[in-house]
Amino acid sequence: MKDVKDPEEYLTTQAMKGSLCLFIMSTYNDGLPPEDCEWFCKWLKEASCDFRVSRTALQGLSYAVFGLGNSSYGDNFNKVATEINAQLVKLGALPVLELVKADENDSELGKSAILFS
Ligand SMILES: Cc1cc2nc3c(=O)[nH]c(=O)nc-3n(C[C@H](O)[C@H](O)[C@H](O)COP(=O)(O)O)c2cc1C
Repeated sequence: MKDVKDPEEYLTTQAMKGSLCLFIMSTYNDGLPPEDCEWFCKWLKEASCDFRVSRTALQGLSYAVFGLGNSSYGDNFNKVATEINAQLVKLGALPVLELVKADENDSELGKSAILFS
């Protein structure tokens, strides 16, 4: 997403094309996104709650979310991936895979990546 200037325009264009988007998202302090994608998470959160944004805004977009986290963070475990997964559905996008919550605390972490791929 680094090169994306306008997430709304980018994702709605991808939705119109019927694209598949993969979101690989880690969670940091207090359940927050990494600094360089704060802007994207903020936009998605606001859009998914905004009554002026259509519930079908991202219809046509297929997606899957791979979350990176650590279960020792309790309720904040993979919080950002969980949130974006729900927010994309609210905007009409179609999940093609169940949310994967990879746990760096789990010795079988690699299995999550294999399932996702
Ligand atoms: C300072 C710090 C805070 C973290 N906070 C959380 C958290 O709230 N929830 C969570 O699930 N993982 C948390 N983690 C674990 C990271 O999500 C995990 O290390 C992940 O693999 C980082 O992926 P990345 O380096 O690709 O961004 C935290 C890690 C660090 C270093």
